[in-house]
Amino acid sequence: MAKEGIKEEVQSKYGTAARRFAGGESSACGCASSAIPCCDPISSNLYELSETAGLPAEAVLASLGCGNPTALAELRAGETVLDLGSGGGIDVLLSARRVGPSGRAYGLDMTDDMLALARENQRKAGASNVEFLKGEIENIPLPDNSVDVVISNCVINLSADKGRVLRETFRVLRPGGRFAVSDVVVRGEVPAAVRRSVELWVGCLAGAMEESEYRSKLAAAGFEEIEIEPTRIYSVADARQFLTAEGIDVDAIAPLVEGKFASAFVRAKKPATKEVTASRACCESACCAPAESEQR
Ligand SMILES: C[S@@+](CC[C@H](N)C(=O)[O-])C[C@H]1O[C@@H](n2cnc3c(N)ncnc32)[C@H](O)[C@@H]1O
Repeated sequence: MAKEGIKEEVQSKYGTAARRFAGGESSACGCASSAIPCCDPISSNLYELSETAGLPAEAVLASLGCGNPTALAELRAGETVLDLGSGGGIDVLLSARRVGPSGRAYGLDMTDDMLALARENQRKAGASNVEFLKGEIENIPLPDNSVDVVISNCVINLSADKGRVLRETFRVLRPGGRFAVSDVVVRGEVPAAVRRSVELWVGCLAGAMEESEYRSKLAAAGFEEIEIEPTRIYSVADARQFLTAEGIDVDAIAPLVEGKFASAFVRAKKPATKEVTASRACCESACCAPAESEQR
């Protein structure tokens, strides 16, 4: 599908979800296919009750992620955090608590109904160190070197241009800034036809990157200290009922699927200084030649 088509489909799906949540429904089907009646193994039970206590119920009900990035990210008082694809705002509100009144938590989302829901949740939470921005994660509307930590929860996999998302993330992070993201990943090779069957089951697996591809795209964007740690590995048993109903021979594909799809916590760092890169870039041009004043 063309990039614009993917964006429109994602916007329409999450716009509908946001309107449902605003009406008090829960995200029982999370980022999974709407064909699943309940208990999506990806989005359910991600947060401890002690974490969500005190958050507006609508923010918790609207959780559509596949992990709990703020539980795994190191967040310090006074820091600036950006959540890519902030949905109903649960991770932004949790980050805002952690960075405190001297810090700031931004949520970025392209879907108007999600932004309206998130802003309403912010109002209910009384969080004054929070701002929800409208925009695309491929074109982050923040200046260079302005953010300490970028979090995200099950969104980068949805982008049609993941390399660009990672380059934009690198640009807005301060030197030494951290990437701390929950995402779905594929572990090793999965034949394309089998992958398509599993994607029928869980919509958000559709764009999941293979682990080594994720690492190489992060490295190409300039990140270092890259780590990918699986937090939930999916079993074919989770999808058996659905896939069988779709006419798929589950036993035949099971050995090719078992353990291959996972939610993972992905960490990386923007290098603290640009010295090495800058000196290399310098020596590639005429700027290493002594200045005229030095020659005299
Ligand atoms: C799977 S939901 C996750 C929401 C939230 N992170 C959570 O954990 O509940 C995906 C969200 O990302 C937003 N989104 C998807 N692709 C986006 C893009 N390219 N730019 C901005 N927002 C995007 C959608 O509008 C939706 O709110």
